[in-house]
Amino acid sequence: MIILPQIQGVVARSCHPFGCQAAISEQISKSLSQQSASDALPKRVLILGASSGFGLASRIALAFGPAKAATIGVSFERGMSEKGIGSAGWYNNIFFHEAAEKAGLISTNILGDAFSAETREQVAKAIEQDLGGQVDLVVYSLATGIRPNPETGEFWRSAIRPVGETVEGYSVNFEKNSLDKVSLPPATEQEIDETVKVMGGEDWLSWIQFLSERNLLSTGCETVAYSYIGPEHTHAIYHKGTLGLAKTHLHNTRDDINVLLENIEGNANIAVCKALVTKASVFIPGLTPYLLALYRVMKEKGLHEGCIEQMNRLFYSKWQNHTERDEENLIRIDDWELRDDVQQEVNALLAEMTPDSFAEIGDYKGVLGEFLQLNGFEFPSVDYTQEVDIEALKTLRP
Ligand code: NAD
Ligand code: NA
Repeated sequence: MIILPQIQGVVARSCHPFGCQAAISEQISKSLSQQSASDALPKRVLILGASSGFGLASRIALAFGPAKAATIGVSFERGMSEKGIGSAGWYNNIFFHEAAEKAGLISTNILGDAFSAETREQVAKAIEQDLGGQVDLVVYSLATGIRPNPETGEFWRSAIRPVGETVEGYSVNFEKNSLDKVSLPPATEQEIDETVKVMGGEDWLSWIQFLSERNLLSTGCETVAYSYIGPEHTHAIYHKGTLGLAKTHLHNTRDDINVLLENIEGNANIAVCKALVTKASVFIPGLTPYLLALYRVMKEKGLHEGCIEQMNRLFYSKWQNHTERDEENLIRIDDWELRDDVQQEVNALLAEMTPDSFAEIGDYKGVLGEFLQLNGFEFPSVDYTQEVDIEALKTLRP
């Protein structure tokens, strides 16, 4: 079978397994060349949300960079079925694991709903069996639109909306190569509450409580969750909207987790990342014009980073250096994005950008290219005209 990209709006309905493999190898080579001044790196790491975006990059950075960490990765992905080839994250898990084994690194994939009690039990068992009973770092990198309410069996659903005002903006459509007008009405109270349930800190805290009660966290254990703040221009749709309120909840939860970890001298952290093209971020209505402008400016200035560059910088230059934190004790790897010179140029581009000019004014080619690469397409090293052996792929397990 020949596998081609199938894009619906901002969602990829197909992926190319060998392109996913190429993406993993590219990221691995970027971590292999890292150096660290410190020996105090985490050796046993649990990653929640390990199959794509920042979670996958964290896993690669920690396993293949100087930490050489053993990893357990939890994710929610689909394999091949009559419905299709499966998700990119499924193949990312497979090829990460294959590369880790080849390098002599311990790696375990757990496929399941990270919100469920069953997945917690599976993780506990894997920490006992594969990591010798404890972890040194828990990375919390879930991005999802739904979370089951264990009491009712129904779902909380996030709604990405402004709060208190209607916001007009534009969202990209990768299927039609267009920038479409969107009008976002203000969130209702219920939408705000549910978004905080799904993307706030409650589940992070509950994971750390669970692991702590089971004595699965080592002395001095760290945990980190990822956040976004962004510049003034995006505040109405992000920072001051429902997602921003969920992130504020996440930041406050860090303080609760720090109290919980006191007896083991542990530490909870928030790393504020830069805006990047991921499966989750292209879904945020109104954000794309900013991404298009930001990509162009940061590339022109030689400051562009993808997930792996961000995570290498987080773990190998920012992590140990507590003087680099801001007044709220947040780790800022959005520092380059928020530089004045970057933001001034971004604002100038945004002022000119229209549905007719977005592809020339912003880096549409680059943003679309990264989106396709997330799904295994557009890798120069892959020959996309070759038949893919579906039967052979079916035998691969994460
Ligand atoms: P992503 O969609 O690439 O990754 C999400 C991960 O969560 C995947 O591994 C997926 O399998 C997993 N997941 C989702 N639901 C799950 C479930 N129920 N059970 C188990 N696993 C599940 O997203 P991302 O952009 O890497 O986002 C990760 C974090 O980084 C989020 O907190 C996000 O807000 C934050 N962040 C993203 C950006 C950005 O621009 N992309 C910027 C700053 C911060
Ligand atoms: Na992730």
